[in-house]
Amino acid sequence: MLGTMTQTDNPAPSAGQGVTIVTGASRGVGAALAEALLERGERVLTLQRNPSSALSRYGTRAESWAIDLVDAPAAAARLAQWLAELPTVLGATPSRITLINNAALLSEPAPMRHPSSADASAALRVGLEAPVLLSAAFLRATQHWPSRRRLLHISSGLGRRAMGGAAVYCAVKAGLDHFSRAVALEEADLPNGARSVSIAPGVIDTDMQRQLRGADPAVFGAQKQFQALKEGGQLDSAQACALKLLAYLERPDFGSQPVADVRDPA
Ligand SMILES: NC(=O)c1ccc[n+]([C@@H]2O[C@H](COP(=O)([O-])OP(=O)(O)OC[C@H]3O[C@@H](n4cnc5c(N)ncnc54)[C@H](OP(=O)(O)O)[C@@H]3O)[C@@H](O)[C@H]2O)c1
Repeated sequence: MLGTMTQTDNPAPSAGQGVTIVTGASRGVGAALAEALLERGERVLTLQRNPSSALSRYGTRAESWAIDLVDAPAAAARLAQWLAELPTVLGATPSRITLINNAALLSEPAPMRHPSSADASAALRVGLEAPVLLSAAFLRATQHWPSRRRLLHISSGLGRRAMGGAAVYCAVKAGLDHFSRAVALEEADLPNGARSVSIAPGVIDTDMQRQLRGADPAVFGAQKQFQALKEGGQLDSAQACALKLLAYLERPDFGSQPVADVRDPA
């Protein structure tokens, strides 16, 4: 009803600290992102099955959940509750609130006709259903906050360029890209609408690359390409990639392109 004040219409004043939620921060790019953010004084919540004990040295600024994103509705419900309580925990709404949808699960690289395609469901849930539901929880919970509100989805060049043997992964990343475009449209005309970017992070020396290099070339023709990337020294470290992603997150034009590449010039 018009003119009715709710608690969320009148949020607590904004606190200086920024808060970032990072999925898949137990290793690889997500771990490097969480560490770099904590080093900058941010408060960070991480979601993965096996939390890293390395973040405990940051005390209460680092919170980690051991959570399986295959059950995306449960993860989103828990995040909604956490966000609802955050202004009370901090004594104010944060100055910046960011969700980085980083976690992904690569099915065994092989064509869809291969028996291993039966495990596609988990990859779809972790890579696409979870980011969509977590983003919805984020957008709902923070819609009346005065904070800077940003969504960063870690996509891939394979969301834009198809590769046989990685059909599910390609579909997940293309889905993230188009989700980002649609959310950006939804938020564009709001007074403090969230900005959304789905970003290709480059090629990074992580477990995921190891999995691609270690795939059976008999069923995954691109295996040699991934081996050549490693042998040619063309992989970024997770730390270098994280710094590029965080630099992109801070760009004043963040969100002007809802689908981007970390290598795009500023
Ligand atoms: N590496 C590359 O060259 C490259 C290139 C393009 C795009 N990307 C994208 O960059 C992002 C990071 O990739 P990465 O290479 O760092 O991957 P990674 O080393 O394989 O790490 C994946 C992360 O996702 C988490 N995760 C996987 N399944 C999960 C589940 N069921 N529930 C909760 N968390 C789960 C893992 O944590 P737990 O195992 O503890 O659950 C881990 O922290 C991904 O979105 C990937 O698609 C990577």
